[in-house]
Amino acid sequence: MASWIETPPSTSGRRTPEELEIEWNSNPVSGLEYVLVTGGLGFIGSHTCLELAKSHYNVLIVDNLSNSSVDVLRRIKALYQSETGKEVEIPFFQADYRNTFVMNTLLSQYNITSVIHFAAYKAVAESISLPLSYYSNNVSGFVDFLTLLDQKGCKQMIYSSSATVYGCKGSGDRIEESAIRSGVECVGLTNPYGRSKWMCEAILSDVCTASTEWNVTALRYFNPVGAHPSGLLGEDPLGIPNNLMPVVCRVLKGESPTLSVFGRDYATIDGTGVRDFIHVVDLARGHVAALKASMSIASPGKSASYRVLNLGSGKGYSVLEIVAEMERISGRTIPLRYVARRSGDVGSVIANPALANLRLGWKTEYGLKEICEDTWRYLKNTMED
Ligand code: UD1
Repeated sequence: MASWIETPPSTSGRRTPEELEIEWNSNPVSGLEYVLVTGGLGFIGSHTCLELAKSHYNVLIVDNLSNSSVDVLRRIKALYQSETGKEVEIPFFQADYRNTFVMNTLLSQYNITSVIHFAAYKAVAESISLPLSYYSNNVSGFVDFLTLLDQKGCKQMIYSSSATVYGCKGSGDRIEESAIRSGVECVGLTNPYGRSKWMCEAILSDVCTASTEWNVTALRYFNPVGAHPSGLLGEDPLGIPNNLMPVVCRVLKGESPTLSVFGRDYATIDGTGVRDFIHVVDLARGHVAALKASMSIASPGKSASYRVLNLGSGKGYSVLEIVAEMERISGRTIPLRYVARRSGDVGSVIANPALANLRLGWKTEYGLKEICEDTWRYLKNTMED
């Protein structure tokens, strides 16, 4: 494993320790094309790296481990081996994707032909108290990264966006991509995290308008949940979580006495919020499908472009439905406390995934049962650790 502190390269002609570290640790195989995955050891990133490797992509991971651990890399490799019977080489560099020295060096040493960009802050409440930190990491760091990729001629990207960009348009019918066109309008975004995702979509759309050499797919995730069926990879947020499933898990672990249900007067099946919960393995496979489709679009004779796709199941479940299924599978009770609506929430957010189904030949395979079973398996493993 390589690691750096953020130090610029030496101008004296002598190698800095950071430069030497890269030389010692990087071992690109000549002739191979790599997919660079930033934030590749996080919840969605780790599942995506495993699926990419299983689909024969050469993966290179950059992650600063701010919300993950290097043990995840070991688990990805172990799962690859148990599922394929073979070993896999996944170069990993512990670095912040904003470290242009490191990224520049990697882009020079490895033949990186595409990037899947996950590295970002993602906690809604935190973004309200630390807006500059969110805009700095998610937006200005991203602009610098795109500038570097542009200079290096690496212009194919899958961008990790979110259904949060639909803001208050999310409520009601199954939502189509055209409801919010990147950079055109911004309706009812209630927090800096959501705005940072919206801004990055707008930037990517502008970059693709300026140059058809760029080829970008922005994937708008709905509510990623679940875990790898092995129970070895899953969501392990640092600090106190805000999203439903991690909070449910805290209650099941006994770390929190009750689940606060935010609102029971929405126009939904039981009055509680309804979301399109997508199994993380389905989501990971959506990335592989998007990369595959993107590469075929980029082939000679076809014009490259910018596109946006929903990754969701098209089916919604309420908070109470999630609670009931988690109780059934775990055999434990989840005590509830009904409280007021959470500010900024909408009643129902469900994807219309037809475009992704059509363009990527992809659709979700797992439902609520698998989501809850796999979450519980992972949770039990973390409780035993
Ligand atoms: C949230 C974020 C969104 C982000 C998404 C990622 C907000 C306002 N939005 O969306 O920007 O992209 O997560 O998955 O935070 N709930 C409870 N009790 C809880 C937690 C949640 O009742 O302790 C309810 C919520 O009111 C909502 C549903 O569960 O109805 C889902 O909430 P959550 O998991 O936070 O996701 P989103 O609100 O959809």
